[in-house]
Amino acid sequence: MQDIEQKIEEHHIREEPYYLPTANELAVSLAAYATGTPILLKGPTGCGKTRFMQYLAWKLKRPLITVSCHDDLSTGDLVGRYLIQAGEAVWHDGPLTMAVRRGAICYLDEIVEARKDTTVVIHPLADDRRELPVEKKGELLVAPPEFMLAVSYNPGYQSVLKDLKPSTRQRFLALDFDYPSLEREAEIVASEAGVESSLARSLVKLARMTRGLKDSGLVEGASTRLLIQAGKLVVQGIPIHSACRVAITQPLSDDPELLAALDEMVRSLF
Ligand SMILES: Nc1ncnc2c1ncn2[C@@H]1O[C@H](COP(=O)(O)OP(=O)(O)O)[C@@H](O)[C@H]1O
Ligand SMILES: [Mg+2]
Repeated sequence: MQDIEQKIEEHHIREEPYYLPTANELAVSLAAYATGTPILLKGPTGCGKTRFMQYLAWKLKRPLITVSCHDDLSTGDLVGRYLIQAGEAVWHDGPLTMAVRRGAICYLDEIVEARKDTTVVIHPLADDRRELPVEKKGELLVAPPEFMLAVSYNPGYQSVLKDLKPSTRQRFLALDFDYPSLEREAEIVASEAGVESSLARSLVKLARMTRGLKDSGLVEGASTRLLIQAGKLVVQGIPIHSACRVAITQPLSDDPELLAALDEMVRSLF
């Protein structure tokens, strides 16, 4: 039992995370929490979804339990399972069950990666029943008001086939997390990387150019995360062209033509 207390303690966010709001996401999420409604964060990678969840958890003073979904994720991984310990079967709560029991925020990152039979366990939790059947234990948990369910997905590259089922998505309030305006994104990059605002602005301009390359075969342009990494390299003394190459252009593509186009963009800006 003490173990669980300790585990939950570790999920509390003690210090205010730096988060620059991009729209009304905070007000809507606080209202969702107050009404027991789950939220769905849509947006490209590296645009601030995880950071927002950390900020929200801090604001609500609730522990944040994050699960990165993948195609092997089973119901047992989420809900829990019996493990043999000293010849005895001992029940271990999974992260979802732990969050429900303790009134935490459970954040299922990249939910569409998880198997369909796994995502169905969240259905009764996501609607107004707010219940979690722990079938293997024959237990039905009712979520306390403090429990919140949040899921994220990337509508850009995740295929329509892997898209969420309407019966799942229609239970959520959806928040659109696209990249913020040039000014705001530059403010984030300057603050997180510790670079001058003029450099931050140029990095954001570069990112915005790469985000326009969809038709040329670039599935996803440079994220805020990549810009921050490039900025941090510059702070460490790496010249800007190299920083852009290792932090931005090379991570984005292996295609020689695309890389040439990306390098050209870098040269036009720096
Ligand atoms: N609105 C924002 N406020 C503060 N930092 C941000 C914001 N958006 C992005 N970031 C920065 O970008 C990084 C990547 O964002 P993250 O939340 O990990 O993206 P995602 O979860 O959407 O893939 C964060 O670590 C943070 O430094
Ligand atoms: Mg994330």
